[in-house]
Amino acid sequence: MTTNKRVVDPTKPSSARIYDYFLGGKDNYEVDREAAAKILEVWPTVASGVHHNRAFMTRAVRTLSDLGIRQFLDIGAGIPTEPNLHQTAQELDPAARVVYVDNDPLVLAYAHALMTSTPEGKVAYIDADATDPQAILSAPAFAETLDLDEPVAVSLIAVLHFIRDEQDPRGIVDTLMNALAPGSYLVISHITADFAPETMRRALATYRASGVHAQNRNRDEVTSLFDGYELLDPGVVGVHRWRTEAELPEWRDAEAGCWAGVARKN
Ligand SMILES: C[S@@+](CC[C@H](N)C(=O)[O-])C[C@H]1O[C@@H](n2cnc3c(N)ncnc32)[C@H](O)[C@@H]1O
Repeated sequence: MTTNKRVVDPTKPSSARIYDYFLGGKDNYEVDREAAAKILEVWPTVASGVHHNRAFMTRAVRTLSDLGIRQFLDIGAGIPTEPNLHQTAQELDPAARVVYVDNDPLVLAYAHALMTSTPEGKVAYIDADATDPQAILSAPAFAETLDLDEPVAVSLIAVLHFIRDEQDPRGIVDTLMNALAPGSYLVISHITADFAPETMRRALATYRASGVHAQNRNRDEVTSLFDGYELLDPGVVGVHRWRTEAELPEWRDAEAGCWAGVARKN
């Protein structure tokens, strides 16, 4: 495990702990619950949105496993919530290898205990910031866990909206993908105001007022993160609509509030 020197600060809300609260988890503090309550006031269906997001992660991992992917780099892993990405991947192939990355010290605190591998596979955790992709790529756990001659799926699920334009999310994606073999994949979900502009504008303003930077991006902006990679069908769609068999009425788009897609590096 690679670690930095960040410590848990219970006086300031964190995106990981707010998300944990929306998922029904117990790993959050009063400040997180207060921030979450304010977000719920303006985006009452946010909990459904985060569940759609987790369900997308599971569908994407299943799809990629069917395509022969056995290695995953999950950036912005979050506080462990079952099924975690490695549990889905290793259920499909016990030899699957997963490297988790997050910059929240509470995620780090739980990683050792909860993100445990099958004996055949391997799971590692890197305490790093997505805005420094080189730190991820050069962490010993990265090359010790992943076979870089083989494809890897990079998962950036519900994390790039915490990264400012000036921190260059597109450059982060390319730095990571450039380090990986052809046949690797890129998985993204991202908050958008396209479905419910006023709700999302107010929800994101509430995040920021709580001290957590978060921003929406529109469909073109999210699609541009995949430029140079080959999008799988059905392209960039609502996170709840990506390869689901469920029949979903249009009003659920606002509830989900995220674009999602999966693309291949050729
Ligand atoms: C909304 S949660 C999503 C968790 C998980 N990917 C999921 O979809 O269930 C966002 C996670 O990204 C992490 N995060 C936010 N900004 C980050 C950054 N710059 N570098 C690394 N992790 C970050 C947070 O700590 C949090 O755990």
